[in-house]
Amino acid sequence: MRAKVTIAGAGMTGGTMAQRLAETGYIDVVLQDIIEGMPQGKALDLAESGPHVGFNATITGSNDWANTKGSDVVVITSGVPRKPGMTREELLNINAGIVRDVATAAIKESPDAVFIIFANPMDAMCHVTLEATGLPRSRVIGQGGMLDSARYRTFLAWESGASVQDVHAIVLGGHTEATMVPIVSTSTIGGVPLTAAMPKDKIDACVVRTKNGGAEIVALLKTGSAFYAPAAATCEMVEAVLLDKKRVLPCAVNAEGQFGINDVFVGLPLKLGAGGIEQVYEPPLADDEVKAIRGAADATKELIGLIK
Ligand code: 2OP
Repeated sequence: MRAKVTIAGAGMTGGTMAQRLAETGYIDVVLQDIIEGMPQGKALDLAESGPHVGFNATITGSNDWANTKGSDVVVITSGVPRKPGMTREELLNINAGIVRDVATAAIKESPDAVFIIFANPMDAMCHVTLEATGLPRSRVIGQGGMLDSARYRTFLAWESGASVQDVHAIVLGGHTEATMVPIVSTSTIGGVPLTAAMPKDKIDACVVRTKNGGAEIVALLKTGSAFYAPAAATCEMVEAVLLDKKRVLPCAVNAEGQFGINDVFVGLPLKLGAGGIEQVYEPPLADDEVKAIRGAADATKELIGLIK
């Protein structure tokens, strides 16, 4: 039997995720959107790629939440993306209303699902989802740190000349320019501490470029924001849950005492399995990194306070 995943929001990210998930062959996908015809058109086009790619999974384009019934995972990508020059925070009240409606409708149909949040500002949208669904903290996960870590690893690989596969580096904290914390102290390249593998100025340049990674793409695209890497990052999380992989990945969780942070979403290393978040790690980090993670949590608390 195949698993079922609903993707709320059939934009560029939602469509790309649908393709990746359907191509695994074991996931039926529902692309849910408020816009009539668009999710159906994308679903039909994707289904017609099946004979070439060789998958039997179904892809359903939908405007009716009834089609999402019994999903194992719900991914929320709904909301408007940034325009050039805009911060993720500026989307707060536009996207909070959309995400609240989507989460409320989704939980009615799929009360046992794990929710993965992509909509921006992501940390705040995780709160909106947690509140709207009444789910336990283990079943609402924010994806920002996954994408930011992939960017960080890519830049470190380019600057060091090493394979991206051997760059083990994570970004914790929040998913905004001001709050993300690319971790240097525990990062390695093939087991060699980052600080021994690369000069400091190159590491610093990667940290700065990572923080600005989303805006760099928004400025280049001019309409819309990144979608290939975000989709890949989210699909890695979806598969960790569906296949009970116990992956340890940098994602956002409603913290419960880690680094003294409570009841606010913050990026930390999490073990993801069938139950959603199965363990939250509190790694030994440099003092300035811990301070920055606490600062990220404070900034998210402040942002949540602005939700109308
Ligand atoms: C990004 O960082 C869209 O938040 C997403 O590109």
